[in-house]
Amino acid sequence: MTSSATPARNFPRVFVAGTDTGVGKTEVCCALIRAARRRNLRALPFKPAQSGDERPTDAERLARAAQHPSLSVDDIAPLRYERALAPGMAQDMSAYLDPAAPQDLSHLAQVERHLDALEARHDPDLVIIEGAGGLFVPMPGGTWQPRWLERLGGAVVLVVRPSLGTINHTWLTLHALETCRVSVAGIVINDGASEDASADDSVSLNRQILASRPDAPLLGSFPRRGDRPTPAAEDHLFDALWSRLQRAESIAADGDVKRASLSDTK
Ligand SMILES: Nc1ncnc2c1ncn2[C@@H]1O[C@H](COP(=O)(O)OP(=O)(O)O)[C@@H](O)[C@H]1O
Ligand SMILES: [Mg+2]
Repeated sequence: MTSSATPARNFPRVFVAGTDTGVGKTEVCCALIRAARRRNLRALPFKPAQSGDERPTDAERLARAAQHPSLSVDDIAPLRYERALAPGMAQDMSAYLDPAAPQDLSHLAQVERHLDALEARHDPDLVIIEGAGGLFVPMPGGTWQPRWLERLGGAVVLVVRPSLGTINHTWLTLHALETCRVSVAGIVINDGASEDASADDSVSLNRQILASRPDAPLLGSFPRRGDRPTPAAEDHLFDALWSRLQRAESIAADGDVKRASLSDTK
């Protein structure tokens, strides 16, 4: 389904991507979902493809954050694989051993239909889609994640580490995102993603550099939490994202946030 055939939505999709696996995408998704709930907004979580059997799984964490009685793990994550591999490799490794192998888009089409139906059933105020791993990740059918991002749409929130190496990972990812037809809503620095951040001289300088891009504004830093969530930090992040989405929406004449140029908003 092309974007022109996509049913018109009056709510935004947000695609939470990361510079790597383990960078805190699920953590940030859950924070945004909880903050939305506190604002009486219905945030619908979605995980197009999940792999690994570590409990709780991402879908279970997202479901717990959403606290929606009729939202099951099957609803949130339609494609699940037990092996702790990229979803595409867990589904069929052979596709990646032959660069000439054709891509099978049926899994992606199935997920698109699933999400459209889920949205129709839940009538959300926004949809929070958690990507898999970093950006260039093998996805089912011998496909690669940027294609899924383009097809599912959504303004990208990029979760990054604060520590040494993050400028390279972040800039590479933003550069790759430029080749996808998506908008970047902003960057979140997850301070909980780096164990040794306090001993890392680069952290405060990285923060300044990560805040320097007008095309990918820093939405905020997300603190390392203890046993409990930190509502003030979650609310701060959500408000920064929400106001950015609202501005983008007012720019998009057809209400499709995906097509709004977020870089037009200051
Ligand atoms: N801000 C944070 N504070 C405390 N723990 C965190 C934070 N961010 C991530 N973690 C922990 O780091 C691990 C990886 O985070 P996760 O959200 O699962 O990453 P991803 O979804 O990108 O793979 C998890 O155990 C998670 O609880
Ligand atoms: Mg995750």
